[in-house]
Amino acid sequence: MRFAKKAAALALASVMAMSLAGCSGNSSTTTTAATEAATTAAATEAATEAATTAAAEAATTAATTAAEAAGGVDVSNKKVGISIYKFDDNFMTLYRTELVRYLTEDLGFKPENVVVQDGKGDQAEQTNQIQNFITQKYDVLILNLVQASSAPDVTDMCKEAGIPVVYINREPDAAEEERWASEGIAATYVGCDARQSGTYQGEEILETSTKGDINGDGKVSYIMIQGDPENVDAQYRTEFSVKALTDAGMEVEELLMQRGDWDQAKAQQIAQDALTQHGDKIEVIFCNNDAMALGALQAIEAAGRKVNEDIYLVGVDALTEAVQNVIDGKQTGTVFNDHFAQAHTAGDIAVKFLAGESVDPVNMVDYSKVTQENAQSILDMLK
Ligand code: GAL
Repeated sequence: MRFAKKAAALALASVMAMSLAGCSGNSSTTTTAATEAATTAAATEAATEAATTAAAEAATTAATTAAEAAGGVDVSNKKVGISIYKFDDNFMTLYRTELVRYLTEDLGFKPENVVVQDGKGDQAEQTNQIQNFITQKYDVLILNLVQASSAPDVTDMCKEAGIPVVYINREPDAAEEERWASEGIAATYVGCDARQSGTYQGEEILETSTKGDINGDGKVSYIMIQGDPENVDAQYRTEFSVKALTDAGMEVEELLMQRGDWDQAKAQQIAQDALTQHGDKIEVIFCNNDAMALGALQAIEAAGRKVNEDIYLVGVDALTEAVQNVIDGKQTGTVFNDHFAQAHTAGDIAVKFLAGESVDPVNMVDYSKVTQENAQSILDMLK
């Protein structure tokens, strides 16, 4: 707990100040030995008392803060089971690190009570992990499903066991979310509206000097490197990035759309093949996330092309490397997928469930655009 550490440090500082005051008082005094001894004893006692009080106060403040942060619920013995769709994902690694930090440092869960499992991209394996959490009577689950379509089954498993569930990052469909509300099921989703990130990507292209039409032939010719197309983030980003262009009256030509599964190496291969096949015709490479934009950039550089001069490149997430590339003019823009706000909202909602409060079925966090103008401040904030 950051605050507790700070409070303890303050308490320590005041104890040291007290002791120093006691010492200097003694050395400057000219009273008799007895008086001196008495003064010393009194000073020591005062210092000790002050120290005890300060330490007690610090402890109380820290405890109060933890309780307040945790919505008045005592979470010290509550167990949180987390499963991430796969550990080998850049963005979800940032997310889970912040989630665990927030739960343990800010909300006061004991580290040994926060258990994170790797779903390894395998729904059957993840369902097993969830079953184990249920058998071991975890108090609340935070789940990043491998397949969002398994939400109805998983929700029913949790409901039967009386365990609330917070889904993150991969959104179950609207019908499922409505069911939680209408049947009063303790389940909810925390994420971002991926339409917004897609729109921002399109706008970043529109904000360039050529609006994406580098060769001036009246249309924006692009390739689209998709994440996992079963995932609503990939679907919406694909659709809304292009929609922003057409809504602004631009003509578009899709040269290629291919799934890169959020993966840098796959995207590098896709971009490399596309650049070989379509060459200068490609004016924009849309990537559904930054990991894939990093891969595409490797292919762009290998093909001797120059971002922001003869090709544009956009991603989503605001991975630090990608934001640095935006600053250096090697990526046109990205979109900040706020893993801090998402992790905090997920943690706060888990606590609300533990407090028996009712929770909205959908909780959305905003994305923000990252372009050359604000990239440095975003990078400073990320570090
Ligand atoms: C997206 C993110 C991707 C990937 C994906 C996993 O929101 O932009 O990089 O982490 O989630 O579901």
